[in-house]
Amino acid sequence: MSAIESVLHESRVFAPSAEAAAGAAISGMDAYRALMAEAERDYDGFWAKLARETLSWRKPFSKVLDETNAPFYTWFEDGELNASHNCLDRHVEAGNGDRTALIFEADGGEVTRVTYQDLLQRVCRFANALKRRGVKKGDRVVIYMPMSVEGVVAMQACARIGAPHSVVFGGFSSKSLNERLVDVGAVALVTADEQMRGGKALPLKRIADEALAMGGCEAVQSVFVYRRTGGEVEWHAPRDIWMDEAAAQEADTCAPEWVGAEHPLFVLYTSGSTGKPKGVQHSTGGYLLWAAQTIKWTFDWKPSDVFWCTADIGWVTGHTYITYGPLALGATQVVFEGVPTYPDGGRFWNMIEKHKVSVFYTAPTAIRSLIKIAEADAKVHPRSYDLSSLRILGTVGEPINPEAWIWYHEQVGGSRCPVVDTWWQTETGGHMIAPMPGATPLVPGSCTLPLPGIMAAIVDETGQDVPNGQGGILVVKRPWPAMLRTVWGDPERYKKSYFPAELGGKLYLAGDGSVRDKETGYFTIMGRIDDVLNVSGHRLGTMEIESALVSNPIVAEAAVVGRPDDTTGEAVVAFVVLKRPRPEGEEAVKLANELRAWVGKEIGPIAKPKDVRFGDNLPKTRSGKIMRRLLRSLAKGEEITQDVSTLENPAILEQLAQGR
Ligand code: WTA
Repeated sequence: MSAIESVLHESRVFAPSAEAAAGAAISGMDAYRALMAEAERDYDGFWAKLARETLSWRKPFSKVLDETNAPFYTWFEDGELNASHNCLDRHVEAGNGDRTALIFEADGGEVTRVTYQDLLQRVCRFANALKRRGVKKGDRVVIYMPMSVEGVVAMQACARIGAPHSVVFGGFSSKSLNERLVDVGAVALVTADEQMRGGKALPLKRIADEALAMGGCEAVQSVFVYRRTGGEVEWHAPRDIWMDEAAAQEADTCAPEWVGAEHPLFVLYTSGSTGKPKGVQHSTGGYLLWAAQTIKWTFDWKPSDVFWCTADIGWVTGHTYITYGPLALGATQVVFEGVPTYPDGGRFWNMIEKHKVSVFYTAPTAIRSLIKIAEADAKVHPRSYDLSSLRILGTVGEPINPEAWIWYHEQVGGSRCPVVDTWWQTETGGHMIAPMPGATPLVPGSCTLPLPGIMAAIVDETGQDVPNGQGGILVVKRPWPAMLRTVWGDPERYKKSYFPAELGGKLYLAGDGSVRDKETGYFTIMGRIDDVLNVSGHRLGTMEIESALVSNPIVAEAAVVGRPDDTTGEAVVAFVVLKRPRPEGEEAVKLANELRAWVGKEIGPIAKPKDVRFGDNLPKTRSGKIMRRLLRSLAKGEEITQDVSTLENPAILEQLAQGR
C-alpha cells in the first residue's frame, strides 16, 4: 500500500508549539511518560484514581480490576452510578444548568441550542414515557434515528432507566434493522418519520415498519416516532406513539436508576470477519470513565471549548464523542444532522466559523472528499472562512494518508492546530493509540503512542513480541476499563474473536496490522488483517456482502474483496458468477446495477459494491478454495505475478481482469 510506504518514509515531525504545550494539562513528553509509568507501577491504583476523579459514584467501588473470570474482566464492579446522572444532573446540580450542552444544526441550517437544564428535562420526560410503556431496567431499546437532539435524548433516557440501547445507523436497510432487533431482543424501538440528509428525505418509519413485519421481533411492543419532517407515515395503534406527545404527558423529573458499574450501557453491532455482525456490549462505569478521560487527554479539552465530532450516533464515535464523553464533562458541543457537501462543500468550514468550534473531529474520507471540492472551487476552500477559533483537529476511523494530514493541518488548521490521529474501535470504547496535543510530537500518518494505561503492542502469529520496525499483529496486553465485556448473547464468540488461543488466550486481538517506528516506537496502522473492509471509515464484513449477493436468485457464487480508493480509503469489489451465462456489454452494466441496488436493500447503501465483475467461475485451488489474494490483485488492476500453479482454472484470471 503506497500510503503506508509513504508514512514509513515520513520524516516531517510537528512538535507541539510552545503555546500549545504551555496551556495543556499534559505538557511535554515527560508528563506523558510519568503517567505511563504510574500505570505500570500500580495499574489498579492508576485507574481507580481516574475513576474517582472523573465520575460521580452513587456507591463508591472498593474493587478495581477483577481478572478471576478472564477474559470476562470486570471493573469497579461493586460501585454504583448512572450514566445519565453523570452526563446531566451533576452539571445542573453544580450550577451549570444554563450552560449550552448542544448546538444542533439541522440539514437545512436551522440552529437550536439546548442547555444542560433543558436537556435534563427532556431526557427525564422521555425516560418517564419509556417507563409508562413498561420499559424497565435491563430491557433493550433499539434506536433508529437521524442525527438529532431527540436521538441524544433517547440514548440518555435509556441510560437513565438502565435499559441498554442499541443504536442502528439510519443508513441500514430494513433487513439489517430486523436482524439487530431480533438478536438484541428489543422491547421498544425509537425512530423518526423521516430523516433529512442533503435536502433529501429518507423514510425511516417505513423502513422500521418493514423491519418489524419481517418477524422474530414480536417482543417490540412500542414504537416511538420522532416527528422530524411531518411526512406521511403508516400508523399502527396502539404500538406506535409520537415521541413529542408521549413526552408532553410526562413529568420533567425522573429519578435515575442506579446500576452496578458492569451493567450494560449499550450494545452496538459491528462487522466481524465471519458470519453476522457482532453485538459489542459495553459497561456503564468503565466505558463512561474512558469516554470522558480520552477527551481530556486526546483533545486537551478545556471548559471553554466548543467541541464538534461529525460522526453519526449510529457508530461508536457518535456514542463516545457525542452522546457520552462531552456530556460527561459538561462540554458545549455541535451536533449536525446533514452532510459535509450540502448545500456546498464549504458546510463544515461555515459551521466551524459560525459556532466558533475549537475542537473538530472528523474522518479522513470527509477530508479527502473536501480537498477535491475545495481545490476546484475557491469559494468553498477553508481559507475563505474564518477558522481562527480552531485549536485542535482530530481524525478517526481509517488510516489518514500524509497528504491529507498535511492539507488538514495547513489549510484547515492554519498550520497552528495539532492534528490528533486517533486509533480505536467499537470494541475499545474510546481512543487507544493517539497523541496528546501538548506533549506528543506528531508525524503525519501515525497515531503515535498508546494513551496512558493502554498496553498496546505488536506481536507475531504466536503472540511473541516483534522488534520495532517489523510489522505484526496489533494487540493490547492488559484489560482496560472501556473494553467490550462480551458479544451479546455469544460469549464463546467473544473469547474466540478477541482472545484467540493461538496468541495464548490473554492478548486482546484488535484485528489490525501495525508497525512501530524503529526510533520513536510510534505506531502506524496498516489496516485490517481479517476479512473486514473499511469503506469511508465504516466497517463491512466481506462475508456479509457475499451472503447478500448470493441471496439474489440469479447469483450462483460471489467473492468480495477491497481495493484502495483515493476518497473512501477502500472500495468494495464483487466478483460474481451467475446462474446464467456470463453477461457482457450493456447486459453486464444493467445486472451490475441491479446487484448493487440489491446489496443496498439487503444491508444498506454503504455496502454497495463500487465495481461488480462477472466471470464464468472464480479462481479456485484444486481443493475448491477461492484464491482471494488473486482477486485482490485483479481488483487493483495489477499484473498477476503470484504463483498460480495451484489454480484449477488459470484461464479465468484473464476473463475477470477485463470483466468490468
Ligand atoms: C480502523 C471506529 C487507522 C481500524 C472508531 C479499526 C483506524 C477499525 C483508525 C475500527 C486510525 C480506526 N487509523 N485505522 N486512526 N481508527 N481505524 O469499530 O481498522 O468502526 O480496527 O471504530 O477502523 O472501526 P470501528
